Amino acid sequence: MKLALIPALAALAAAFAGIAAAQGDPERGRAWYAVCATCHGENGEGMQEMNGPALAGREEWYLVRQIQNFKDGVRGTNPGDIYGLQMAPMAQVLPDRQAIEDVAAYLASLEY
Ligand code: HEC
Repeated sequence: MKLALIPALAALAAAFAGIAAAQGDPERGRAWYAVCATCHGENGEGMQEMNGPALAGREEWYLVRQIQNFKDGVRGTNPGDIYGLQMAPMAQVLPDRQAIEDVAAYLASLEY
């Protein structure tokens, strides 16, 4: 193989990795986020009065996992978990996996 091809292949691999990682659409996610802002802040900065932690700039994969956990009842169902119980019904607002990935992509795109 010609050495000159290596950077081109590396760029191609990086481009595919980018496509695979970016499944959520931040623009659609912004619309979903409107309801979340009540507790997590207008720009995802968090809101202590509502017990909502900051979400801006967090890893997309982590946000997807946590939102899915709330939606599936893995988090926020223990009667002693008063904060988790506030969040769990909110995850039901997001109808499917795509909506979860979209809102996570939006949050990950915000500066914190
Ligand atoms: C009624 C207030 C409220 C609303 C509205 C709300 N949340 Fe939450 N959210 C919380 C609270 C409180 C927690 C902290 C739960 C805990 O301490 O276990 C939380 C936690 C989270 C977490 C976990 C953060 C972490 O570090 O693990 C994510 C992700 C999240 N919310 C996303 C959302 C999204 C997306 C929406 C909109 C669909 C939303 N929330 C709407 C109150 C809310």
